[in-house]
Amino acid sequence: MALLCKKNKTVAVVGLGYVGLPLALLAGKKGYGVIGLDIDEGKVRLVNEKKSPFNDPAIARQMRRSRIQATSDFGLVREADVVVVCVPTPVNDDHSPDLFPLTSACKNIAPNIRSGALIIIESTINPGVCESVVIPLIEEGSGFRAGKDFLLAHCPERIDPGNDKWNVENISRVVGGFNDESMQRALSFYSAILDAHIKCMSSLKEAEAVKVVENAFRDVNIAFVNELAMSFNKLGIDVVNVIEGASTKPFSFMPHYPGCGVGGHCIPVDPYYLIDYAEKNGFKHKFLSLARRINNRMPRYTVSLLEQVLAERDIPIKDAKIAVLGLAYKPNIGDCRESPSFCLIEEIDRRGGWAASFDPFAIERGTARSLEDALEGAAGAIVATAHNVFRALSPDDFSRHGIQAVIDGRNCLSSQVRTAPAFAYRGIGI
Ligand SMILES: NC(=O)c1ccc[n+]([C@@H]2O[C@H](COP(=O)([O-])OP(=O)(O)OC[C@H]3O[C@@H](n4cnc5c(N)ncnc54)[C@H](O)[C@@H]3O)[C@@H](O)[C@H]2O)c1
Repeated sequence: MALLCKKNKTVAVVGLGYVGLPLALLAGKKGYGVIGLDIDEGKVRLVNEKKSPFNDPAIARQMRRSRIQATSDFGLVREADVVVVCVPTPVNDDHSPDLFPLTSACKNIAPNIRSGALIIIESTINPGVCESVVIPLIEEGSGFRAGKDFLLAHCPERIDPGNDKWNVENISRVVGGFNDESMQRALSFYSAILDAHIKCMSSLKEAEAVKVVENAFRDVNIAFVNELAMSFNKLGIDVVNVIEGASTKPFSFMPHYPGCGVGGHCIPVDPYYLIDYAEKNGFKHKFLSLARRINNRMPRYTVSLLEQVLAERDIPIKDAKIAVLGLAYKPNIGDCRESPSFCLIEEIDRRGGWAASFDPFAIERGTARSLEDALEGAAGAIVATAHNVFRALSPDDFSRHGIQAVIDGRNCLSSQVRTAPAFAYRGIGI
């Protein structure tokens, strides 16, 4: 175990979600005293019962040995040498950043912070938020001065839930500090818990920018292949084969794949933080805004494809039952945040059809209790999430329920399903 810096013995993790909970578990495993703070009392209770508040088998296993003392009482921040903030940073309906969870966490931390403590923001934020939002709130609520009475660093989280290879412990990180001492204290904390490279950025703002750039990069690349998928559909070219062909180039090409929409708390959200910040500072990110529009349009495109395929078989979508398979935004997990599946359901509804959704990882969010229930009597099916259980579906799994059209929103079904004579099959760009 790495030696703990004397000044970093107790950690308070604020926000026990997909980001905060793995970090709190890791800090406990590395010998820190860990206080877990969350405004959700149900989550606090579950964590104190050593149960995972979300569906993740790896976290559930680690929770059995949890040393986290969870609470909603921010008074316990006084015990902490390091306070790591992992609260959500969503967008409002108009896509402007919603900093309410972050500002309210800062207001609760401020009166309780101990002199000399290090605050680290791990939540994704646009450049400038640490200096223009976090510092004033902490200074005002504590009467302390940043850099003198408390230290501040930003270390954006990169966790990828469901990824067996890359986890909170081995993913490399970037850190930016308010001053040199903040940077050194943050480095000492992360070096003690991570088994990964940590890159020092020259400012808080640079570290903030790294995270939004990473996710905007992914959004833009996905938008590019989604646009190709819609174009190649008209040109009669299989876009996935083309991407695989281009991937044989050993340099300068990175494959991204088209699909029925982009979901999750990061990729469809974070680019808006940069778009908004740049716009307030006199720059319009046309490229990022276009990528967002293209990706937001994919659920509508997918339902249009289904409507068109059904029409070829003289089946109107109006009054038809459509099975939507998958509510989670990515395979084999139950996280449904910003999932395009809900846009698919809305779009089916808008065209007069009715959606029966099913997700084995998020049964409580679906309208059908089983896959069979979702498929039974449906005219068409859209595979919206590439869960293993959906990838394994055979032609018979669809045909015995009378399905006439299968839209493979993740291009993940078998070649047998793709070529089955009993129903029409279409992928996204294939
Ligand atoms: N989920 C990911 O894969 C991922 C990856 C990288 C970065 N991030 C970023 O990390 C941050 C957290 O994301 P998450 O996925 O863990 O969110 P989450 O919704 O899973 O968890 C956030 C937790 O914070 C709690 N919370 C909300 N307001 C609070 C407050 N004022 N005080 C205390 N607790 C509060 C919520 O109850 C919830 O338990 C976001 O900024 C996100 O963009 C997420």
